[in-house]
Amino acid sequence: KRPAGAPDRGLARPVGKVGVVGAGLMASQMALLFVRRLKVPVVLTDVDQSRIDNGVSYVHGEIDKLLGKKRISPDEANRLTALVSGSLDKAAFADADFVIEAVFENMGVKQQVFAELEEHVRPETILATNTSSLSITEMASKLQHPERVVGFHFFNPVAVMPLLEIVRAEHTDDASLATAFALGKQLKKSSVLVQDAPAFVVNRLLLRFLGEVLTAVDEGTPFEVADNALDPLGLPMSPLVLMQLVGPAIALHVGETLHEAFPDRFPVSDNLARFVRSGKTAVWQWDSEGNQTVDPEVAELWE
Ligand code: 3HC
Repeated sequence: KRPAGAPDRGLARPVGKVGVVGAGLMASQMALLFVRRLKVPVVLTDVDQSRIDNGVSYVHGEIDKLLGKKRISPDEANRLTALVSGSLDKAAFADADFVIEAVFENMGVKQQVFAELEEHVRPETILATNTSSLSITEMASKLQHPERVVGFHFFNPVAVMPLLEIVRAEHTDDASLATAFALGKQLKKSSVLVQDAPAFVVNRLLLRFLGEVLTAVDEGTPFEVADNALDPLGLPMSPLVLMQLVGPAIALHVGETLHEAFPDRFPVSDNLARFVRSGKTAVWQWDSEGNQTVDPEVAELWE
C-alpha cells in the first residue's frame, strides 16, 4: 500500500549510485544498508582520509559478519565489498543519483556540504539529509535546485529499525519525493511522510519521554527510579539507555532545537548539557554479570 501523501510512484527515478557524506557511525550504517539492499556502488566521503578509511572498514567488516552468519554467500560478500569505496574528492559523486549527508548537526555545516555537492552532481541528483531535527527547507534555501532536497531520517541501529521518516521541504518536488519513497521500499523500510517541522515526529515523541525522565532526575528522583518508570510499557530500552545508543550530544541537540521552537513544551536540562560537555557518553554501566548501575562520576555531575 502506498503511504499516505506519497506522490505517484511512476515519477520515481532509478538510483544506480549512492553517495554518503560523513563516515561516522550513522553514515557508515547507512552505507552498509544501501549497498546491501540496492547492490549499487556506494561512495563515502568525509573531511579526512582516516575517517573515510574507518567508515569503509566498518562497512567491509559488517559484510564479513553477514558472511560469517551465512546471511550472504561468499560471492555476494565479494561483490558488495567491491561496491563500497571512499574518496576525499566530491568529484566521485558526479555520477551519483542520490547523495545523503550525515555530518555534524549544524545548519551552516550542512548548508556548506550541500553547496559543495551542488558543484559536482547533476541538477536532478537527489540531495538527502539524515538530520534529526533541523529544518530541511532552510538547509536547501541557498541552493540553485532546492527542489531535489529531501529529509531521509533513519533510526539507530539503521540495519534493524524499520522506520524511515521522509521529509517534504517547502520546495521538494514530486519526482524527488517519489524517488525517496521508492528507495525506502528497496531498503525494506517502512516510510512515512512527515512535514518539515522541528524534530519531525519520532524525535518529538522520544524527547518528551527523555525530557520527563531528565526533569525528574533534575528534581531529585534517582536515575534508577526515573529511567525505569516506563518498564511496564515494555519498551525495548529505557530512555537513558536509548540516549546512550544515539549519543547524548545528539539528544541534547534535538532537545535544544525543540526548546527553541516550543520553549514551554520542551525544557532543556542544564545537567544534560553539563554531562555532554564532560565528554562522558553513558549514564548506565554494566558489570561482567550484566548488573546495571549508574556511573558514579556521572551522578556527581547532576546538581
Ligand atoms: N548496531 C547494529 N546492529 C545492532 C545493534 C547496533 N547497535 N544492536 C543490535 N543490533 C542487531 C543485532 O546484530 C541483531 O541482528 P541479527 O538478528 O541480524 O543478529 C538484532 O539487532 C537484534 O539484536 P539483539 O537480539 O542483540 O538485541 P535486542 O533484541 O535487544 O534488540 C535493539 C536490540 C534492536 C537495539 C532494541 O533494543 C531496540 O529496538 N531498541 C530501541 C532502539 C530505538 O528506539 N532506536 C531509535 C533511536 S532514535 C534515533 O535513532 C533517531 C535519531 O535522530 C536520534
